[in-house]
Amino acid sequence: MITEARVRDIVNALEDPFLHKTLAETGGIEEITMREEQNHVSVKIAIAQTGTPEQLQLQMRIVNSLKEAGVETVGLRFTELSEEKIAQFRGADAGEKDGGLLSPNSETVFLAIASGKGGVGKSTVSVNLAISLARLGKKVGLIDADIYGFSVPDMMGITTRPVVRGEKIIPVERFGVKVISMGFFVDDNAPVIWRGPMLGKMLNSFFKEVEWGDLDYLLLDLPPGTGDVALDVHTMLPHCKEVIVSTPHPTAAFVAARAGAMALQTEHELVGVIENMAYFESKSTGEKEYIFGKGGGDKLADELRTEVLGRLPLQQPDWNEEDFAPSVYAEDHPLGAIYQEIAAKLDTKLSLK
Ligand SMILES: Nc1ncnc2c1ncn2[C@@H]1O[C@H](COP(=O)(O)OP(=O)(O)OP(=O)(O)O)[C@@H](O)[C@H]1O
Ligand SMILES: [Mg+2]
Repeated sequence: MITEARVRDIVNALEDPFLHKTLAETGGIEEITMREEQNHVSVKIAIAQTGTPEQLQLQMRIVNSLKEAGVETVGLRFTELSEEKIAQFRGADAGEKDGGLLSPNSETVFLAIASGKGGVGKSTVSVNLAISLARLGKKVGLIDADIYGFSVPDMMGITTRPVVRGEKIIPVERFGVKVISMGFFVDDNAPVIWRGPMLGKMLNSFFKEVEWGDLDYLLLDLPPGTGDVALDVHTMLPHCKEVIVSTPHPTAAFVAARAGAMALQTEHELVGVIENMAYFESKSTGEKEYIFGKGGGDKLADELRTEVLGRLPLQQPDWNEEDFAPSVYAEDHPLGAIYQEIAAKLDTKLSLK
């Protein structure tokens, strides 16, 4: 009777019909059971899509190969691979074919902006860092990965929607940054009501179906916390760098440490901490008031063994009624200047790698 190892070799060599990877690569074999007296082998296999003609073909191929190897009867069961796995392999596959963003030889630096708590200024920081990098002459893209709580289009004052060319979505360009957001694909600020698996698919489309062109940086504005989307980003982009945004308040810093720990666990490289709402500076006296406390950013950076890239005070951008972008700081605004310094620091740090 054939050995289990031999069965594994034979089946492992066959390809998942949708991912075009061998079952060895996808880890598709879930279980092998052997019944020696009847010379019977049964295998449970996970593939990308079940109940299709392609599955039938694979089924026949497995049965034939095992019978050729001397097995009398073969039992097969199929299940579907997890969404994460499918996304991972689809991504890799697409990258290889078109030399896209996710291909191993892509030069684009992925930079995720994360936080533990909501409302600390992640999206504001993402938008302004992206614009500052573009002001440095970099080619920059921004993905609003907060699928449920998208805010980037409104913050940047984007009033147009992406156009579709052929099979690709052309991102909207604003202040020199190419932007994609879930907000472009829903009507009239309707809430997005989706279950977990859809999120992975959406993110995947943001990479695969969007014509990003050649980018130096692709920033991702993550939703707060350590939930599904953050995890998807971690699996989809193993080389992603990460910046953590926190207020100086100890509770914000504690929670932010958790987001940082997640990055470290998934081997995302932490490039630094940005302390937002660090203080309020009186216009009349120039005196600084530390409204949310002091020291949270340093403590966080210490704990995560990284550095504080910059501290942003509390202040709104100047609003321009003709070209309204409520969260964008002009280059000559005090915060615009701080963002410019942070962007330059980041660019030096990341281009040395
Ligand atoms: N330095 C700052 N000074 C003044 N207001 C700020 C500053 N940073 C952010 N804000 C304001 O704080 C609010 C929250 O910011 P933002 O939406 O960027 O946070 P977030 O972390 O992305 O939130 P969420 O978790 O909801 O995605 C916004 O109204 C923004 O305009
Ligand atoms: Mg946000």
